[in-house]
Amino acid sequence: EKAAKYFGLHANHEDRAEAVRFGASGCVLTCAYESSAQAVKDFAVREDDVWVVTPPKCGTTWTQEMVWLLVNDFDYEGAKAKPLMHRSPYLEFARFLTEVKKQQFLGGMDTVDYASKLPSPRCIKSHLPKDLLPDQLWTKKPKIIYVAREPKDVAVSFYYHDQLLSSYTGDKDFFFECFYEDIVGYSPFWEHMLEFWKMKDQPNILFNTYEEMKQDLPSVIRRTAKFLDKEINDEQLTRLTEHLDFKQMKKNPSVNVEPALSKMREKGRIKDDQAFIRKGVVGEGRREMSPEMAARFDERTRRVFNEGVGGCPWKI
Ligand code: A3P
Repeated sequence: EKAAKYFGLHANHEDRAEAVRFGASGCVLTCAYESSAQAVKDFAVREDDVWVVTPPKCGTTWTQEMVWLLVNDFDYEGAKAKPLMHRSPYLEFARFLTEVKKQQFLGGMDTVDYASKLPSPRCIKSHLPKDLLPDQLWTKKPKIIYVAREPKDVAVSFYYHDQLLSSYTGDKDFFFECFYEDIVGYSPFWEHMLEFWKMKDQPNILFNTYEEMKQDLPSVIRRTAKFLDKEINDEQLTRLTEHLDFKQMKKNPSVNVEPALSKMREKGRIKDDQAFIRKGVVGEGRREMSPEMAARFDERTRRVFNEGVGGCPWKI
């Protein structure tokens, strides 16, 4: 009942249809997504791939840009010339979009086919949880950079994202309720993070958090470069830190879902101040949620991590 209400709160037919498919793809009702899910599971992985795997809204784009520049020897011109979606494709994306949205956001590209034809070393992004990722990820063992973010802040970020890209018209509290109850796409978020937290010490997995990136980006860049076996000198580190600064990223069209968002702005579908790279701060959950909802989120985070596996990425 709640899921039907949530999906119904997407403004127009296309967005509603997509929300239903997205919910389906998002591990809530996997059966509706079966054929695409299989294509993703069968995707041919290469040992020299670099994968960025995260639940949505955890700093994926930020990490993709960092990783792509490290892998491609700081090719800033190349990064500017091609949208991130083409440099670091979002593997499953095309497979749950409606045809209209596939045109709008991908120019009709099928992300699975596109990624399969990219030359090595490929940088690939996925939001899928462990069990829906390609099987060969666990046998070829390419490098995987995982990014987690404190769940309250993820929910806030996802609420604005759903308004921006899927015309969600419901209120914030209802969205948080749906997030908590694992109705929104890619749910359940806690278990997604838990699965990778459990694997964080495997040699081909690097577990970063959004909060670490905010607190000390140069250290995260150094750690990620080391993990990728890339040298980085002080000058290169300074330049990359500046390039990845929030203000720089916000005005960089290559990482901001362009030209799709500009076209939506021109058509009046989104407001001028609505942007993909939005606010970029820690602690939004505490500010935007009711104390009761924040307490529910914290209780689940404590239960899943501290009590479940005796360790947690955040002090809650
Ligand atoms: P907010 O909505 O809280 O602002 P993803 O790429 O996984 O969708 O994550 C998006 C979130 O990362 C958004 O969070 C966005 O603003 C934030 N983000 C993107 N680039 C960033 C940067 N350079 N510095 C800080 N936050 C950034």
